[in-house]
Amino acid sequence: MTLLEKFNADGFCVLDGFLSSTEVDELRAECNQLIKNMPAESDRTIFSTVGSETKQNKEKYFMDSADKISYFFEEGALDEKGALKVAPEVSLNKIGHALHVLNPVFKKYTFNERVKEACFQLGFKEPAIAQSMYIFKNKQIGGEVTPHQDASYLFTDPLKVVGLWIALDDATVENGCLQFIRGSHKGGVHRRYIRNPDKSSPELMIYDKPAPIYPKNHFEHIPVSKGSCILIDGKVVHASEPNKSTKSRPIYTFHVIETKDTKYSELNWLQPPSDNPFMKLYRN
Ligand code: FE2
Repeated sequence: MTLLEKFNADGFCVLDGFLSSTEVDELRAECNQLIKNMPAESDRTIFSTVGSETKQNKEKYFMDSADKISYFFEEGALDEKGALKVAPEVSLNKIGHALHVLNPVFKKYTFNERVKEACFQLGFKEPAIAQSMYIFKNKQIGGEVTPHQDASYLFTDPLKVVGLWIALDDATVENGCLQFIRGSHKGGVHRRYIRNPDKSSPELMIYDKPAPIYPKNHFEHIPVSKGSCILIDGKVVHASEPNKSTKSRPIYTFHVIETKDTKYSELNWLQPPSDNPFMKLYRN
């Protein structure tokens, strides 16, 4: 079976040894540098639970992160004043969403030949990178990712969105590896996360439908080793459990969208700045 046949049949596909151990270590070291630049305590107050504006503040911080390197904390990592309740090195949930633009090391591994080759095999004509994230899934605190399709958040017409998900340590059943409903990409997009058409509402983003119920026993754990990459169809349903183990499960992920003869939805939360369109993969 070719890579494309496997991907088309299952909605995902594992590329073992996508990055070498040395390359993974370079990404992890770069992330440690980013942690050193983590916002001062005062900036963390936007994540505090004090006051009725909390949800809007969080939503705005999230939406403003499209072209920045922004830090997102684990629920339960901060007290109501924004002070850390846990060690700084395990407090983060993720960093995003423009690492591939603003950080030279993350940029190097996003625009590398292996990524271009994989996207070429998946039939991308003029792919661009829409967003990137370093996800920590830290030991004992890393939260659950509930079942979803990436296309709910990143919609294009026609739909062509693929996530590359690179394990920066072994991802196992114990530390919260990805789980998929094999073949679930064939059923369309089940709901969308869109800009709220009601401008009088304090909610900037809404779901257009309630969350679908996906039976738990339809999910299959897909453990992968350090350096492997999982290609994820935007429509395949996936999730991950909280990391209650003693081993963190860091990953680097980014999303590729087709731009040739394709309209990027203006309803997506993530919009490229008008003077700075999404970076094209084959030209960078
Ligand atoms: Fe996802």
